[in-house]
Amino acid sequence: MKILVTGGAGYIGSHVVMRLIEQGHQPIVVDKIHLDRAQAIFSEVKDKVQVINGDLGDRDFLDSVFKKYSFDAVMHFAGSIEAGDSMKNPSIFFQNNVVNGINILDMMVKHNVTKIIFSSSAAVYKTKDGVLTENDILAPENFYGETKLKFERLLHWYNRIYGIKFVSLRYFNASGAAYGLGERHKQETHLIPLILQAALGQRDCIKVFGSDYPTSDGTCVRDYIHVMDLARAHLLALEKISDVPQIYNVGTGKGHSVREIIKIAEEITGKKIPLVDAPPRSGDAAFLVADPKKIEQDWGWKAEYDIKDIIRSAWEFHKDKG
Ligand SMILES: NC(=O)c1ccc[n+]([C@@H]2O[C@H](COP(=O)([O-])OP(=O)(O)OC[C@H]3O[C@@H](n4cnc5c(N)ncnc54)[C@H](O)[C@@H]3O)[C@@H](O)[C@H]2O)c1
Repeated sequence: MKILVTGGAGYIGSHVVMRLIEQGHQPIVVDKIHLDRAQAIFSEVKDKVQVINGDLGDRDFLDSVFKKYSFDAVMHFAGSIEAGDSMKNPSIFFQNNVVNGINILDMMVKHNVTKIIFSSSAAVYKTKDGVLTENDILAPENFYGETKLKFERLLHWYNRIYGIKFVSLRYFNASGAAYGLGERHKQETHLIPLILQAALGQRDCIKVFGSDYPTSDGTCVRDYIHVMDLARAHLLALEKISDVPQIYNVGTGKGHSVREIIKIAEEITGKKIPLVDAPPRSGDAAFLVADPKKIEQDWGWKAEYDIKDIIRSAWEFHKDKG
């Protein structure tokens, strides 16, 4: 299939692009990163992926891209992702994650592209001391989560009004690395890369934000899911997409606290990670762990990698490319 991958030069999108190529699909990436960098990311498969530099805020640009290629489906990764930032700059998040998302949906309607797979997030849920099912309370703890929820609602309406078919994958904490690619956000706030940068001496220490949460050791608990398990879920979504809207948690069902992750990383890297206690961050939920039963039962998808595989693969990436 010919697939438009928005944000395909980013962390998760680039891994999915590699997987799409492996499976014989033709990904066309639209991302607002510099073309040289995109070419470096996809250097080994440069003949198999077209990368177009552009912003989803530019409807004329999008119109020309949709006109040029007859896409079979869209995978929509592009967005503003940092939850803490969303509490300082809500309008930027609304513009990028909701309004620019509508641009994609409108182009799909105009150019008769009917399938979209959306990168949603565990951030749509109200934090809960227990696993979260898709039927749990939708009450985001930060504005980032609100924008993901808003876009899911838009998908429902575009399905009802225009027949757009969608799958919304609510990822928990994407992590790990493959294909020589890895996690390196422009502004890194994710725990595992930060820890590994500290292990490499690229940071003095790790800040532990909040030690008084109602969790076993007082630090936040998250469900870490390997980026290749996410990639597999995307490929399945392409097969399973139908007229009926589908929303799934994509996680392992296991939670790990910040302190646990640091301990496992110390074992794997053989390095001591210096820690500093810091106040809790605005918008951080205490406990976000998936109940992945629905996707397991409906699609037969199950996470194949555990937290040690994740940290080992991320460490390989950071040691080589960090
Ligand atoms: N990383 C996680 O743990 C996680 C968890 C849940 C959901 N998600 C979602 O998954 C998606 C991908 O996350 P990621 O970690 O790969 O982030 P990322 O920042 O590495 O990738 C996002 C990409 O989108 C591009 N982009 C952003 N706005 C754009 C615009 N207006 N026009 C064109 N390109 C634009 C960026 O340049 C970047 O390359 C995001 O939508 C994010 O909200 C991520």
